[in-house]
Amino acid sequence: MNRLKGMFDIHEDAAYYAQIKQAIERLAHVHHIDRIDTPILESTELFHRGMGADTDVVNKETYTFKDRADRSVTLRPEGTAGVVRSYIEDKLYAAQDAVKKLYYDGPMFRYERPQKGRFRQFYSFGVEVFGDQSAVLDADVMKIAYDLMGALTLDSTLEINQLSVASKARYSAALKAHLEPSIQDFCSDCQTRLTTNPLRILDCKVDTEQAAFKSAPLPLDYLDATEKAYFQDVQDALSALEIPFTVNPWLVRGLDYYTGTVFELKVSTNILGRQNTVAGGGRYDGLVEELGGPSKGAIGFAFGLERLVLALKSAAITPPIRPLDMYVMVLDDQVKLAALTLVNELRHLGFKAELAYHGGPLKKQFKAVSGSHATLAVLYGPDEVKGGYLTVKDQTTNVTTTVPRTDLKNFHSLLKERAK
Ligand code: HAM
Repeated sequence: MNRLKGMFDIHEDAAYYAQIKQAIERLAHVHHIDRIDTPILESTELFHRGMGADTDVVNKETYTFKDRADRSVTLRPEGTAGVVRSYIEDKLYAAQDAVKKLYYDGPMFRYERPQKGRFRQFYSFGVEVFGDQSAVLDADVMKIAYDLMGALTLDSTLEINQLSVASKARYSAALKAHLEPSIQDFCSDCQTRLTTNPLRILDCKVDTEQAAFKSAPLPLDYLDATEKAYFQDVQDALSALEIPFTVNPWLVRGLDYYTGTVFELKVSTNILGRQNTVAGGGRYDGLVEELGGPSKGAIGFAFGLERLVLALKSAAITPPIRPLDMYVMVLDDQVKLAALTLVNELRHLGFKAELAYHGGPLKKQFKAVSGSHATLAVLYGPDEVKGGYLTVKDQTTNVTTTVPRTDLKNFHSLLKERAK
């Protein structure tokens, strides 16, 4: 049996994921963000209404099927729609906090062509913030994403842009009029998009070299005075936080719910090629209302964890792995139960400890000790049990000592010494 195409198992890279998740939890704590976990399976309609039925993600990439009661259900391709549904359904807006900040991480599913940094099941870390519509919050949310990169010691660049809400229809019409005369030179997807959703043409990865694409009107040209001022405020707030950024007037993001500020974080490492966007997000002020809730400003972003893992590897950043503190060797079958008790006592004291469950020849057991990279080999046999001590071989110095059975806590100082 094999894995499905575009899916993967996590074992060797588990420590990278653990490192990222630890950084996420630390950040969520200091930024006052609550955890939310929503179901992986939702009604198909949620994503159609939430993300836009004419987006590639919904149109071509969802895993959609009928459940046993003939309801159309979809494996979530992203986290925002489910979080918004929960925010409305469980009336999270009624909570005391004016601003509700939520975070999640978990698997997402998109039926895309698999390649480096692009999978059919991938893991996302996302943040969604509801209840405020201010440039200061926008910058503060981008700071969370920026801080995660900092916590992982990864370099990235932040690209920002502003979509016009006031002139959305006017902009869309202008874009359509501009592209229409040469649309036959564009890919067949873009030819369809021209009538269904012209803005999505700017996301196209195929037609970027077309002259009409390059000379297309851009969202920034259509901002009204208020939107222009807002965009300037976002930039001032980012500068106040000393977050470097560049304005990318082409940035529109691939989903329909975005309403103003949009942004992406990119890494420069070429290991990711075209998949160098590690995070993307923006404002979606209309989505809560669109899905049946009250009118609430909202902004969020999501990271792709695989891309972070690839970036960490390419920067040769390895996650800290704590080796086994001790391996308890069983010198005689008679002491197996005593050894089992001993190893669990050590674990209760906080040591990372393993037991030679099978006992057997010493040579074989020592081989297992070296294979496990344990700092200490603890030899435990009838003499040790009777005498109330352990024989301990320090694997780094090869020095063997005895330690009273009642002094297990002293291993803490010994191991601390070794770690230096
Ligand atoms: P997105 O840009 O579609 O945004 O995805 C977020 C991130 O997920 C991307 O920047 C990328 O790192 C990663 N990603 C996307 N597709 C794949 C894939 N097939 N394989 C591996 N990684 C992938 C969203 O999902 C929005 N929900 C973000 C958001 C939250 N906007 C507002 N709130």
